Amino acid sequence: MQDIQSIGIVGAGQMGRGIAQVAAMSGYQVKLFDVSSEGLKKGMDFIQMQLDKGADKGKWDAITAKNCMKNISPVNEITGLSQCDLLIEAATENKIVKFDIFKELDEVAKPGAILATNTSSISITEIAAVTSRPKFVAGMHFMNPVPVMKLVEGIRGLETSDETFNTVAAVAEKMGKVFVRANDVPGFAVNRILMPMINEAVYALYEGVASISDIDQAMKLGTNQPMGPLELADFIGLDTCLAIMNVLHEGLGDTKYRPCPLLKKYVLAGRMGRKSGRGFYEYK
Ligand code: CAA
Repeated sequence: MQDIQSIGIVGAGQMGRGIAQVAAMSGYQVKLFDVSSEGLKKGMDFIQMQLDKGADKGKWDAITAKNCMKNISPVNEITGLSQCDLLIEAATENKIVKFDIFKELDEVAKPGAILATNTSSISITEIAAVTSRPKFVAGMHFMNPVPVMKLVEGIRGLETSDETFNTVAAVAEKMGKVFVRANDVPGFAVNRILMPMINEAVYALYEGVASISDIDQAMKLGTNQPMGPLELADFIGLDTCLAIMNVLHEGLGDTKYRPCPLLKKYVLAGRMGRKSGRGFYEYK
């Protein structure tokens, strides 16, 4: 197994910043990169706020929060990740974007560094194939909010070596997560099951089965889920939900995975959920 001391993270959005916080809390040296300097600053500010909140609530003390923040360095250039032992990509759920990032990471990262992706549905084998080091590429799928959710779904591509897969499993476990292994098929395990449920909830709304709040209440109270499916869709991002449904539909070729027209319409209208201020619900 490889010895991982430093972790580079690509993307300071809701997933990247959460992974950075948890990695730094677990004692890793973290470098956080984002193409947008504004996005990077927002990500760093959010982590600081979360650490302060945790200290106020007594989850950890102020010194731990300070040390954690010291473990995270923001970097404005992707080359700033060149000395990291493990790189975790957490950018937009878009194939072209991910392929470009992996080509760049492959050039920038030192020989033997592991390249992991937080993709929620795109093939690890296909991402690995754009690099010259497919043995060193694996999927590490974190859940949102990263500091709260216990799961990391681990996915090995066709060429991923045992050493790489065991190393990312050990890193996830050191971060306090449970590493569940899934095969490299569209949506892996979580989104193969979760997204059709969310999509079906949107169909139920579209077909007038029940109102937004009634669908959510029914599922929360009837099946003990912490959030109803439409609230959860807003939380994940409707553009991300649509992108994952498209991967399931194209990759599995079954019409049962077709995205609901209402989901498409919301995304076209710019209603992306919490992050845009409006999805199925409105947010201040
Ligand atoms: N970052 C860090 N911590 C957070 C947080 C965030 N963004 N949001 C909430 N928390 C923490 C709070 O600080 C609080 O901690 P304590 O109990 O220790 O004080 C705890 O979570 C509970 O928060 P709240 O009391 O504010 O709110 P809540 O009880 O309503 O819980 C929730 C919020 C944890 C998000 C809960 O509603 C939940 O579990 N929802 C389901 C989330 C889920 O399903 N995530 C997976 C989505 S799928 C995915 O991510 C993968 C994909 O590919 C799409």
